[in-house]
Amino acid sequence: MNTLLRGRDLITLADWSVGEIRTVLEVAFDMKRRYALGQYEDLLKHKTLFMLFFEQSTRTRNSLEGGMTQLGGHAHDLTPDKMQITHGESPKDTAKVLSRMGDAISIRNCFYDLGNAYLEEIAEHAEVPVISMQDDLYHPLQGLADLMTIQEHFGADLKGLKVAVSWAYATTHAKPLSVPVTQALLFPRFGLDVVVANPPEFPLQDSMLARARKLADAGGGSVSVVDSMDDAIAGADIVIPKNWGGFAHFDDFVDDEDHARVMKENLEKHKDWICTTERFAAANKGAKIMHALPADRGNEITDELLDSEHSIIYDEAENRLHTSKSLLSLLMGGRP
Ligand code: CP
Repeated sequence: MNTLLRGRDLITLADWSVGEIRTVLEVAFDMKRRYALGQYEDLLKHKTLFMLFFEQSTRTRNSLEGGMTQLGGHAHDLTPDKMQITHGESPKDTAKVLSRMGDAISIRNCFYDLGNAYLEEIAEHAEVPVISMQDDLYHPLQGLADLMTIQEHFGADLKGLKVAVSWAYATTHAKPLSVPVTQALLFPRFGLDVVVANPPEFPLQDSMLARARKLADAGGGSVSVVDSMDDAIAGADIVIPKNWGGFAHFDDFVDDEDHARVMKENLEKHKDWICTTERFAAANKGAKIMHALPADRGNEITDELLDSEHSIIYDEAENRLHTSKSLLSLLMGGRP
C-alpha cells in the first residue's frame, strides 16, 4: 500500500504504478464496507472539489458529488458557460484561480485532440490535484471502478482471465475511445488477457495498443486485436460490448460534416455487431457482462442479456462511488 498519494494528479492510470492503483482499490473496498454499514467519516470536511464538465454525465457527476458529501466536503458542479471559459479565459488563469479557492480540480473534456491537452495544461498550472473525469484519450475513474468490480466477482488474482472488449453498434452518440483504451492499458497490468474486437473502420489508436502491450509485459497479461465480436467472446470470462467512434480516422476528413457523413456510413455497415444471449453462450461458464454505461439497449446489447444474471453493470456503476471516494480521500486528504 502506498501512503503518499496526497497531492497527486490523475490524468491516466498508465502513469500510476500498479502499487498505487492497488492502494486506491484497497481503500475503496474499505469505503464500500463502511458504506454498507452506514458509516461515514468526515475525511474531507471543509474541502471543495471543482467539477468542470464540458459534456454530460450521470455516473461521474453523481459519484463524485455524492462521494464528496459522504466525506463531509462539497463538490461544485461547473460547466464552461457558468464560468468565463466560454468568454475565452485561459486554462492557466482558470487553474490558478480555482487552486486558490478549493482543494482539487476535476475535468471532463472529451473533444477530439483537445480534451487531454486541456487537462494537461490545467495540471501544469494548478497547485491542487487535477483529476480526469474523462478526456478524448483516457477515463481513469471508469478504469478503477471496472477493476474493483472484476476483483469483487473474480477475486484478487486475475491472472489468465480473458476480457473481450468489443466494439458494438449504437445510434445514440459516437462514444469516445477513452473507455476501451483505458481498459486495454489497465487490465493486462493485473494479469488479464484483453482481446479487443472491432470492424476495420473503428480501430483503437496504434500508439495506445503499443503502450498497452508494453505495460502488459510487466503485468503478466496480454493485449490482442481481432476483427470479430464472436472471436473475442469465445472463451471469455468478461464481455464488454460497447460502441466507440472512429476518431482514429478523424484527420482524414476535410471537415466535421464530411467526417459525420462517413462515420454514419461506416456505422451502418456494422449493425450486426450486437451482443446477444446466443453470442454470449460462447463465453466461459460464469462469464459476466460489463458496460461503463450509458448503454444503447437493443443496439450494443440486447435487453435480455443486459438484464440477465450474467450482467454486473450496476455493481460496476456503484463502484464508481467507492473508487472515487477512495481516490478523493487519498489525493485531497490523506496523511498530513
Ligand atoms: N461511465 C460514465 O462515465 O458514465 P457518465 O458518462 O454518465 O459519467
